[in-house]
Parts: sequence; C-alpha cells; structure tokens
Amino acid sequence: MRFGDIGGPGGRLIHGAQDPLPRVEGRRDTAGASGSPMAGRVRPPVLTGRRAAADRYVRPMGPPPFLHPFAPPAASDFTTIVRGEGAAVFDADGRRYLDAMASLWYCNVGHGRSEIVEAVATQMRALASFHAFDRFTNEPADALCELLARLAPMPGARVFLTSSGSEAVETAMKLARLAHVRAGHPERTIVVGRRRSYHGVSYGGVSVQGLPLNQEGFGPLLEGTTQVDHDDLAEVTELFEREGDRVAAVLAEPVIGAGGVIPPTPGYLKGLRQLCDEAGALLVLDEVICGFGRLGSWWGADRYGIRPDLVTFAKGVTSGYVPLGGVLVGRAVREPLEAEAGFILRHGHTYSGHPTACAAALANIGILRDEQLLERAEQVGGRLGLGLSGLAGDGVLAEARGVAGIWAAVLPEEVAATEVRQGLLDRGVIARPIGTDVIAFCPPLVMPDADLDHCVEALEASVAEARARARV
Ligand SMILES: Cc1ncc(COP(=O)(O)O)c(C=O)c1O
Repeated sequence: MRFGDIGGPGGRLIHGAQDPLPRVEGRRDTAGASGSPMAGRVRPPVLTGRRAAADRYVRPMGPPPFLHPFAPPAASDFTTIVRGEGAAVFDADGRRYLDAMASLWYCNVGHGRSEIVEAVATQMRALASFHAFDRFTNEPADALCELLARLAPMPGARVFLTSSGSEAVETAMKLARLAHVRAGHPERTIVVGRRRSYHGVSYGGVSVQGLPLNQEGFGPLLEGTTQVDHDDLAEVTELFEREGDRVAAVLAEPVIGAGGVIPPTPGYLKGLRQLCDEAGALLVLDEVICGFGRLGSWWGADRYGIRPDLVTFAKGVTSGYVPLGGVLVGRAVREPLEAEAGFILRHGHTYSGHPTACAAALANIGILRDEQLLERAEQVGGRLGLGLSGLAGDGVLAEARGVAGIWAAVLPEEVAATEVRQGLLDRGVIARPIGTDVIAFCPPLVMPDADLDHCVEALEASVAEARARARV
C-alpha cells in the first residue's frame, strides 16, 4: 500500500510517497532573550526538510484522522494543548488555562514534574519494557507492588497491574468470579453496580456501571450484571434476599466521580460492607479517581473507614505521566487463588508490570508523600469547597457538593453546563461539564489558593453571563 492510498476519506497527498513516516525533529525555542515561557524548551515535533514540503498530507474539510474519545465523531474543532506547568496548561496559541480537572481527574501532582520525567528517562535507558508473564519480573514493578501493598487499606494485599482503570475494573470482576469458583462456589457470578456510577468502557465495566447513555448501542452487554440505587441500602438488602447466594461482588466508587461527584451519605459504605459480609459477596471499591490523595487520604476506603476485598486504581497512581492501573487483591480473593500450587491465573495484559510505568508511579507517590499532598487535598477542599458553597448560599448555584479535592457545582435550572464550561474557558479555566447541570472541579493538588479562588470567581461570572443570556 502506498502512503497516498491511506490518505483517508477524501484525503490526498501532494506527491504521494512510499514512506508512510515523515521525518520529525524536536524544535528548540530560541526566544530565550525575550523571556518567552517557551524559551529553551523542546517543542512538539514538526515535519522537516524537503520531504515535509513534498509530502504534506492535505486534510479534507471535516473531522481529523484522530477519532476522539467521548466526542462527537463528526466534530472537527479541537483545542490543542501543548504544554503543562504545575496547575496550568497552555494551548497552541499560547493561551494559559488553569487545569481545574487535573486533566481527566488524574494529574494529582501537577504538570511538568521533572522528578517523574527523570525517573522515566532513567528507567527507559536501563530497560524501557519487558513483560512480566510467567517467570519474569522487574525491579520497578516489584518495588511498586511492595509499596502499594503497604499502603493498601486492607491487610495482606497483593497487587495486579494493568494500564488503565477499565482494565483494572475488568480484572477485579474476573478475579471476583474466579475466586468464588476456586473456593467451590461457581454459582456466584452476579456482579452488582450502582446507578450513576462509572466503571470504564470495557464490556464488564460498561455493563455493571450505572450511566445508561454509555451503554446505548453497545449491546448485548455482559450477562450477570445488575444495578442498585447509588444510595439505598434497602435495595441491596432486597437483592441479597432474592439472590444473595449468587452474588460474586458489589462494585462501588467511594465518591462517585464521572456520574456527577456524589459523596456517600454517612454510613452508606460501612452498611454496604456489612451487607456484603452477611451475603458472602466481595466488596470492590473502584478508587480510580478517589485513590492517591484525591480524598485527603491514600484511599477512599481509609477516609470512610472500611476494608474492601478488592480495590481498583489508575489515574493518580502516576498522575497520568505514563498510563498505569491495577487492583489491590485482598485475602478473601488471593487465598482461594493461591490454594493450589499448580493453578495458573490465565489473565494479564502485555503491559501488566510495565517497568517504565512503575518507575513513574514510584516517583509520583514519592512526590505525594514528600510534599504532603494528601493534607493539601483537605486545604484544596477547604478553599474550593468554601467558595462553591458560598456561591450556593448566594443562589448562584443550586448546590455545591464534594470532598477534599473533588467538587461538583450544581447549576440552576435555566443554565446549561456546556454554556458555563465555555464561559470558564473564556476566563482561562478548564472544568468539566457533566450531564446538563453539573460542572466538576478536581484540580491538581498543587493548585495555589489564588488559582482556586480564580476558579470560583470565573464560575460565578460564567453562571451570571449564562443567566443573562437565558433571560434575553
Ligand atoms: C471510577 C472509575 N473507574 C474506571 C474508570 C476507567 O478508567 P480508564 O479511563 O483509565 O479506563 C474511570 C475513568 O474515569 C473511573 O472514573
């Protein structure tokens, strides 16, 4: 196939060439004397040389080749982010934005942390990657799992590694079923999720999660999954009365994140733990957002004082510098799996235990600990939470809810979340609209107080603007 043949629908190459890979080169900004923030930095690669002029792909009008996740496939208007520093990111036109969502709920230590960059580069020079199937291992993976086992909210945990939260959820669901099979209860296959919860996009996670829009068009979904209300223990009790002896596990986010930032009502998670114990079901906490300091503790389980059987994590484990996820595997699951010496766990990903990702996690966790960012999460909550609650008190918002580093601004009825998001962008703040009435905030834990205040002020102005438009 010639490169010209893969120009995409309606695309064409000027002078189509055989070689599909244009040469690229890092550019070094030379505007040092001008005090440009880009001075001395290596900028993103660009096409160079004669070939660049000759082979430049001419994109047709319409969407670009990059098919974006959770976006309209027909969209063609995107904001190109080129650089990050602390709690801010910059677009290709040099505009600065406060990253009030820690990218996508993950950049807990902030952008541009050279400690992580150095740890990754050092590891890559020694061994970028080697698999950990069967008898192979590597030092960063061993060190990370040892550290995570010590930090785990349950005693005696082991750690299974993945590259994403969805893979972690999939792993937890499979391990829960498998543990019951190995313990002599193959009839325990039902996995219970909560309405409004989010557990990723793989078939297990998308089947058990509780946001119906995410399931539309993807059926048939995974058999043996069901949902209960996110806040109603009576519904769990009824479900267990009907089919408790067939339930493998219940999945719960300590604080629901992508479903609208919903903290648990007091006693809910402890009650869920108790009901699972009585029914013989495993409790899986999905801590993909809540873990690694977001709630002011290493785990949501710590904050709410419960011991889960399995914990899924991702995002904040590396602050997103390299993709990584995993599952903390407690005794109730590991013991039946370990009981027979010859039994083989036939589950794992090519990159389970990726040494470079693990090196990034070790450096990231070091920063969380050394800079007391768990404590800082509480201060973020104090400042941001107080600001948002003030807006709710003044009638600017319908409600403010959240814990430590994660908050929802619930908008008044006449105001659309997408409109407010645009107002925030215009004021240099990236926050995330959820549904029609929520703007989520989940800033890097290093965001300074003045910037947190700016988020609140920008929200107030954006809501006022949207309201004024709604009145016209
Ligand atoms: C609670 C929860 N679980 C699972 C996932 C899926 O993680 P990933 O997008 O890394 O697959 C997410 C992602 O936002 C999440 O918030």
